[in-house]
Amino acid sequence: MRDARYDILFDSVKIGPVTAKNRFYQVPHCNGGGYRDPSAAAEMRRIKSEGGWGVIFTEQVEIHHTSEITPFIELRIWDDEDIPALARMADAIHSNGALAGIELAYSGANGPNLYTREVPLAPMHTPILTFTSDPVQARAMDKEDIRNLRHWHKLAYRRSKRAGYDILCLYGAHGFGAIQHFLSPRTNQRTDEYGGSLENRARLLKELISDAHDEVGDSCAIAVRLSLDELAGDSGFTNSQLRDLIAMHAELPDIWDFAHGTWEACSATSRFAGEARRRT
Ligand SMILES: Cc1cc2nc3c(=O)[nH]c(=O)nc-3n(C[C@H](O)[C@H](O)[C@H](O)COP(=O)(O)O)c2cc1C
Repeated sequence: MRDARYDILFDSVKIGPVTAKNRFYQVPHCNGGGYRDPSAAAEMRRIKSEGGWGVIFTEQVEIHHTSEITPFIELRIWDDEDIPALARMADAIHSNGALAGIELAYSGANGPNLYTREVPLAPMHTPILTFTSDPVQARAMDKEDIRNLRHWHKLAYRRSKRAGYDILCLYGAHGFGAIQHFLSPRTNQRTDEYGGSLENRARLLKELISDAHDEVGDSCAIAVRLSLDELAGDSGFTNSQLRDLIAMHAELPDIWDFAHGTWEACSATSRFAGEARRRT
């Protein structure tokens, strides 16, 4: 017999225009397959669907070739040719009634672009912020770059829908990606309407969410994944700023998904790190 306090986990829940059959929500995570091993990546998600999850996500999916994190292998949605592999995974997720989620990522200053050799883009000029400390410099985005970034997201939204995804998640957690870099005063010292006040630093996120609703909001839910605290002290995107952001824009996405701090702090396994630890 199940303890009655867990019953709610088995109730369906509406997320924007879609309904999950239960509250078991598998957040995005990589499993090393990426664009290179689409059948393995799909079969792993099929097993999760058999296991009964209500929502199953991909790993981070790179939306454009101007930002990639080689030597790590992630999924890609760079053009229409990437749709079949992603559709294969969505079909596997749907096989036992789960909703399919796709996490869209633009790494920006976190992407060394070792494969494409493109110059990484960031809110301001900065040495890139990668695990491997590659000697690469990101350049500050001008207004045209920001318009392009919105356009690349729109293409990714349409392709995600065509591939069969029900929930699209914008990735701005773990210190990764343009969304977080714009939100944080540590990595965004712009003096235009995209920098300075929290409202200005959140402008890109707000635009990306509203573009997503316009493009695919009739049939896809829009999620946003942010870290509860950047864990970079007062110069970073702190928990109190996050709370102010939510107070300002609570209704913008269909669901907020909060991760913990840096990737290292969030993702260490309990074999090597204490449960719910605060620092790396
Ligand atoms: C190998 C690995 C890969 C991950 N990849 C992603 C990712 O692509 N996107 C993301 O938002 N989080 C990623 N995460 C973070 C997880 O989604 C999750 O937040 C973290 O593992 C903590 O949750 P847990 O205690 O349930 O494992 C990854 C974690 C691990 C261990």
